[in-house]
Amino acid sequence: MSLSVKHLLGIKELTSQDIEQIFQTADNFKQVLQRPIKKVPTLRDTTIANVFFENSTRTRISFELAERRLSADVVNFASSGSSVSKGETLIDTVNNILAMKVDMVVMRHSASGAPWFLSQNVDARIINAGDGINEHPTQALLDAYSIRERLGSIKGRRICIIGDIMHSRVALSNIYCLGKLGAEVMVAGPPTLIPKHIEDLGVKVEYDVKKALQWCEVANVLRIQLERQHKPLFSTLREYALYYGINKQTLDSLGKEIVIMHPGPINRGVELNSDVANSKQSIILDQVENGVAIRMAVIYLLSGKVDLED
Ligand code: CP
Repeated sequence: MSLSVKHLLGIKELTSQDIEQIFQTADNFKQVLQRPIKKVPTLRDTTIANVFFENSTRTRISFELAERRLSADVVNFASSGSSVSKGETLIDTVNNILAMKVDMVVMRHSASGAPWFLSQNVDARIINAGDGINEHPTQALLDAYSIRERLGSIKGRRICIIGDIMHSRVALSNIYCLGKLGAEVMVAGPPTLIPKHIEDLGVKVEYDVKKALQWCEVANVLRIQLERQHKPLFSTLREYALYYGINKQTLDSLGKEIVIMHPGPINRGVELNSDVANSKQSIILDQVENGVAIRMAVIYLLSGKVDLED
């Protein structure tokens, strides 16, 4: 029943069986979330710290709801207003939190590899809630779970990830996850936002978004991550929207219906127009809803309670 890993640092380390196990467990928790009392007592003796060194809306709230719905005790830490500003190190910060008898740490950090570093240096289960441009594993799990829910399967499906691939931890985690589940994956966007040699990860590359949309059954559209771009990689947002943004007219011209996804936050009018984001083809809010069940599943399977219940 338990996963092959002790921490969830990335999708790269998971097996396809781990991912299926997470999906099956999330199916059960999704049923719990539809009941009048959306709560199980499973983790009532567990304390979880959400340690966020970078901004977040969806992931932070989703993890906290997942933890509370498993009956865990929850503490939230944000680096702004903390002793990090006085020079405290990451390990000291987390060890001080752990000294207050915390069992699990959910961490977001702007430095790629920070959750891995923590897992090597502190005695707690670590869940990566997004590290720099490396991975965002629970986002990829909820994305794949939402595709499976909408289309019934993932194996053999043609899925395109569009936009700022270069700076996206969501893109890398999706590439690993969808690949392990047998999907055909394409990345599309301006050449300056697509890493060299990305084909080595088993993905197709397309620079013409219209051709990518014609190829795919699902388009997962990503935000332009201006905060991670230290020099201009395209002329203007207006030009990006013109050549790579998706609007209703583009979709209607395809002659077929594709599924539209976005991990959020959306730059409306840049990568996606509101008439697309709010359309019937869009499963953006289903992704957010499924995030709670997926995170409940991940937390439960890593909690150490599973083997005791077998
Ligand atoms: N998708 C995502 O990670 O959103 P937040 O940055 O709001 O958590």
